[in-house]
Amino acid sequence: EKVVLAYSGGLDTSIIVPWLKENYDLDIIAACVNVGQEDDMKEVKEKALASGAVNIYIENVQEEFVADYVFTALKANAVYEDKYLLGTSIARPLIAKKLVEIAHKEGAKYIAHGCTGKGNDQVRFETTIAAIDPSIKIIAPWREWDIKSREDAIDYANEMGIEVPVTKEKIYSRDQNLLHISHEGGDIEDVKNEHKADILYMMTKTLEEASDEPTYVTIHFEKGIPTKVDGEELSPVEILSKLNEIGGDNGVGVVDLLENRLVGMKSRGIYETPGGSVLMFAHKELEHLVLDKMTYQYKQMIGLKYAELVYNGVWFSTLKESLDAFIDKTQENVTGWVKLKLYKGNIIPAGMDSKYKLYNQEISSFGHSDLYDQSDAGGFINLFNLPFKIKAMMDKDL
Ligand code: ARG
Ligand code: SIN
Repeated sequence: EKVVLAYSGGLDTSIIVPWLKENYDLDIIAACVNVGQEDDMKEVKEKALASGAVNIYIENVQEEFVADYVFTALKANAVYEDKYLLGTSIARPLIAKKLVEIAHKEGAKYIAHGCTGKGNDQVRFETTIAAIDPSIKIIAPWREWDIKSREDAIDYANEMGIEVPVTKEKIYSRDQNLLHISHEGGDIEDVKNEHKADILYMMTKTLEEASDEPTYVTIHFEKGIPTKVDGEELSPVEILSKLNEIGGDNGVGVVDLLENRLVGMKSRGIYETPGGSVLMFAHKELEHLVLDKMTYQYKQMIGLKYAELVYNGVWFSTLKESLDAFIDKTQENVTGWVKLKLYKGNIIPAGMDSKYKLYNQEISSFGHSDLYDQSDAGGFINLFNLPFKIKAMMDKDL
């Protein structure tokens, strides 16, 4: 019998290999899904095999991740609790889907993962796996073993002779992919503490280090999908990577959020999403230009629901697919360009245009226009006002 283990080479997954061998009679197939985390995959591979896995799959899914996951959520402007661009959440369903594919290829009945029993990721992985193949059984060591903290985990690793990439001093839990890097745990857990930007940041320059000159960048969209940066046609991965670089240099896209986890507790995370933040800002600008008022405002509500679904790991679902259909319809005219000025953590609009723009300078400007007769406004206001007049008359007993 076989188990496919979601393997990253990090602290949690490293100690799972010897633990599984001690506690289950299963051959361990390690699986590392590359969504753009900057790990040395050769090292990951060697480490997995040295610790006792019989085989390891390294799957590079970066193009699929950006094209089908990041850009899909971008079209929805999905943001959780006003701040979080869902960098980790978006990657989980794709990783889980790949784990199931590998399990099928290997004839494995089990999938194991290293998510804590207190977090969201366990829910996202297991919900996705259940939605694709409900017959697969889950092993979640963090919910079974006696290891209670990351400190315990480090001790267990040392005991087992497993090299781990963290020490007790540098204890942040991080998750990286092409869209973002998250930082949780350590001194950030105390909300009285300011986060230590200079120690924490890995994709972004601190505001102090950020370039003293602004950078202008122009992004071109076709039906809500970014296709060009500064006039150059690029692949989804290239676009996101390039904007990560430019955004990171200018210190944009960091959020510090005390969020509500699906499992009830609040937790604090620092998220660096330089390129994603630039893209979402530009995308929203273009929607302001081309969407009519009702569609724009209705879509805002859909975006909130969408973010909640993604956060909760409900990617492969009828509701999510139905919302995608709605969103794709709204994106038909989201084609055009947006220019942005990036400077010391700020993203500032610097011009845009679209052949589908619904903004008409002649109508909107303060001068005269044939389509809009100012004398019509008086009657409109009388009707618009009517309920408030009636309420005021009633209050005053008139
Ligand atoms: N709190 C964020 C989320 O729920 C980030 C989770 C990071 N996960 C991790 N295994 N380090 O999406
Ligand atoms: C984890 O499960 O590894 C921690 C973060 C989370 O899932 O929210």
